[in-house]
Amino acid sequence: MGSLRATSTQAGLIGLNDEASTAEDLTERESSTQRVELCHIAELRESRAQGFDPFREGQASLFVVKKDTSLYAYRDRCPHYGTTPLPWKKNEYLDKAGDVIVCAAHGARFDITTGICISGPCLGQSLSAIALHVRRDGQLVADVHT
Ligand code: FES
Repeated sequence: MGSLRATSTQAGLIGLNDEASTAEDLTERESSTQRVELCHIAELRESRAQGFDPFREGQASLFVVKKDTSLYAYRDRCPHYGTTPLPWKKNEYLDKAGDVIVCAAHGARFDITTGICISGPCLGQSLSAIALHVRRDGQLVADVHT
């Protein structure tokens, strides 16, 4: 993956060389939080998003965006209507240029790095960020609150 680096500055944001976790970390950390494997970081493409279902809802329940070598994860729920998923089609969370997250329902647009709505019916509201970690073997894991 090269010499990419960043540090965690907010929930949902990691660097590709973020502090690795051990297998033991994947067990329950707190009574309501678990780390769940999503994929290997090599599977994620720049300026693209990918959905996963660690919350076991039967459809994508969170999505990960790779932008400028950093990874961001958010719950797949639009703050305009609490449980509305964002994409119009599987893994289509971003605009054509890959610059912003878009909700297909009513066109809300969200900043990739913060999850804050920058235009649309929920202006100023935010997507729910999900904390991510990269293990030494390159597996991406998410903190899932159950
Ligand atoms: S449900 Fe997302 S903009 Fe309305």
